[in-house]
Amino acid sequence: MPTDGRILLHLRNVEVWQVELEQDEPLVARLRGLLSADECARADRLKRPGHGARWIVSRAALRILLCARLGCVPEEVPLDVAEHGKPFVAGTRLRFNLSHSGTLAVVAVAEDLAVGVDLERPGRNAAAVERTLSAGERASGDDLLQLWCRKEAWAKAIGGGLGWAPEAFDTTRVDGYALADLALAGGYVGALAVEGQDAAHTLCRLTF
Ligand SMILES: CC(C)(COP(=O)(O)OP(=O)(O)OC[C@H]1O[C@@H](n2cnc3c(N)ncnc32)[C@H](O)[C@@H]1OP(=O)(O)O)[C@@H](O)C(=O)NCCC(=O)NCCS
Repeated sequence: MPTDGRILLHLRNVEVWQVELEQDEPLVARLRGLLSADECARADRLKRPGHGARWIVSRAALRILLCARLGCVPEEVPLDVAEHGKPFVAGTRLRFNLSHSGTLAVVAVAEDLAVGVDLERPGRNAAAVERTLSAGERASGDDLLQLWCRKEAWAKAIGGGLGWAPEAFDTTRVDGYALADLALAGGYVGALAVEGQDAAHTLCRLTF
C-alpha cells in the first residue's frame, strides 16, 4: 500500500455507494472472512435477528470500496477509529463515512475532503426532529426526515462527540460544508455533507 498519502484510483468527485444489506447466508459467510477478529466479535454481539449479518455486509462493503483505492486486499484495509467513533484510515488522502438503516447502507468516499453521510428508512417516525429545527428549517417546509439526515450528515462530516446537539446544526446556514440530498433506492431518505463549497457526487450501487 502507498505510504505517502497517495491513492491509486483518483476520485473526480465524491462517490456515494448504496449497498443492499440483505444477502444470502453463503455470501455473508464469505464477507465475514474479510473482517478483522474484532469486527467479527462485534457482529456476534448484535443479537437481534439479521442485525449481525447486515452489519457484516456493511463493514465488508466499506473494506471492499476502500481497498481498491489503497492498493491492498479488503482484509488489509487498516481501519482506525477517531476519538468520537468516526472510522478513518491513517496516512492517506482517502476520506469516507458510512450510514446504515433498515436493509440499506451508504458509503461516501472522497479524496482530501471530509465527508459525512446519513440515511433513514422510509416511514421512520420523525416527530422528535420537530423540536430541533431552526426557524429557517421550519419555514422551509422540507420533510422532517430529510432535515434530520442533513443535520446528521453534517455532524458526521465533522465527526464530533457526545456534545453534539442537533439544534446546533442549522442546515439553512451551513458554514464550511456543502449539503446534498441523496436520491436513494427504495424510498430511503439520505443526505451527504462535504467539506468546502461543493457537494457534487456520483451515486453508485455496489453489488457482490
Ligand atoms: C455516531 C452517530 C452519528 C451514528 O449515527 P446513527 O444514525 O446511529 O448511525 P449511522 O448508521 O448513520 O452511522 C453509523 C456509522 O457512522 C460512523 N460513525 C460512528 N461515529 C461517528 C462519528 N462520531 N462521526 C462520524 N461518523 C461516525 C461509523 O461508521 C458507524 O457505523 P459502523 O460503526 O457500523 O462503522 C450517532 O451515534 C450519534 O448521533 N451519536 C451521538 C452524537 C454524536 O456523537 N454524533 C456524532 C456526530 S458529531
